Amino acid sequence: MPAVIVLGAQWGDEGKGKATDQLGQHTDLVVKFNGGNNAGHTVVIDGEKYALHLLPAGILSEGVTPIIGNGVVVDLDVLFEELEDITSRGVDCSRLLISSNAHIIPPYNRLMDQANERARGNNLIGTTGRGIGPTYADKMNRIGLRIQDLFHPEELRAKVEAALAPKNTIFEAVDLQVLDPAEVSDHLLSFAERVKPMLCDVSLVVNDALDRGDTVLFEGGQATMLDIDHGTYPFVTSSNPTAGGALTGSGVGPTRIDRVVGVAKAYTTRVGEGPFPTELDNEVGEALRTKGGEFGVTTGRPRRTGWFDAVVMRYATRINGLTDICL
Ligand code: IMP
Ligand code: MG
Repeated sequence: MPAVIVLGAQWGDEGKGKATDQLGQHTDLVVKFNGGNNAGHTVVIDGEKYALHLLPAGILSEGVTPIIGNGVVVDLDVLFEELEDITSRGVDCSRLLISSNAHIIPPYNRLMDQANERARGNNLIGTTGRGIGPTYADKMNRIGLRIQDLFHPEELRAKVEAALAPKNTIFEAVDLQVLDPAEVSDHLLSFAERVKPMLCDVSLVVNDALDRGDTVLFEGGQATMLDIDHGTYPFVTSSNPTAGGALTGSGVGPTRIDRVVGVAKAYTTRVGEGPFPTELDNEVGEALRTKGGEFGVTTGRPRRTGWFDAVVMRYATRINGLTDICL
């Protein structure tokens, strides 16, 4: 099974980290293709618990090359915090590769996430507050910062200034802290030399690996029902966690994919606001939450719980062209 996409078939937290990690034992490359540190993968190895947000789950498997694709948004502070944490616990992270086309989550987009949620009033999405939506918005709006911009300091400074000016006006209006563009740029530029050795052309690396016959696992963050196009819009994340996102988020063509594995739980959970047809707002739901330990890895929020939704499963099968279900 040379190229396998592993993705969430419900609203997230289906156990993709565990599934990826188990498959990762027989994998050469693990490529994260969407989202950022809004994710929360819990992996337990030899009794030791790892909660990963940004790093691909494959980072814990020896001999696997973990890769952050161009479709991911990278908070550089979080990247190095996670790397330091797991390196100090004896995990070798030297194989990590990152696309130089991946976008950076600048500190002002965490604030923008808060400002947007405040502006929504009663219609809030319940985002993870990590700046994910505003960073993808900047990308689409063509005012985003890519990791490669760190090597052109003057251009980066100009981009930060241009992107931040209108946002500062909003921060002022909603009583959030106004940020200094020079400070933001200095902070981002301080990561340049450390991140440099990890950068590569992910599309080239992955396609070369497939040509060699290596096994590549594409690891989706979030899930089908949180997809910006196919999920419960607007109560979704701002990327494509579905099979198509694996292609655009890493630079691989559809003809190269062998299997698409949808991970699902035997019941359903959802974090944040939005529709949830099989939700159990009663003692049964409470029992699922308690027994399943259904609290967010990223935000600690209690997850909403409900019955297995076969309609959602059929939908996820169609949208992703699933070949396998991991229940
Ligand atoms: P954002 O991704 O932070 O913009 O949040 C948008 C919506 O997606 C919110 O309802 C979040 O709770 C949800 N969400 C984002 N990432 C995850 C995840 O990894 N698991 C479950 N829900 C998530
Ligand atoms: Mg999770």
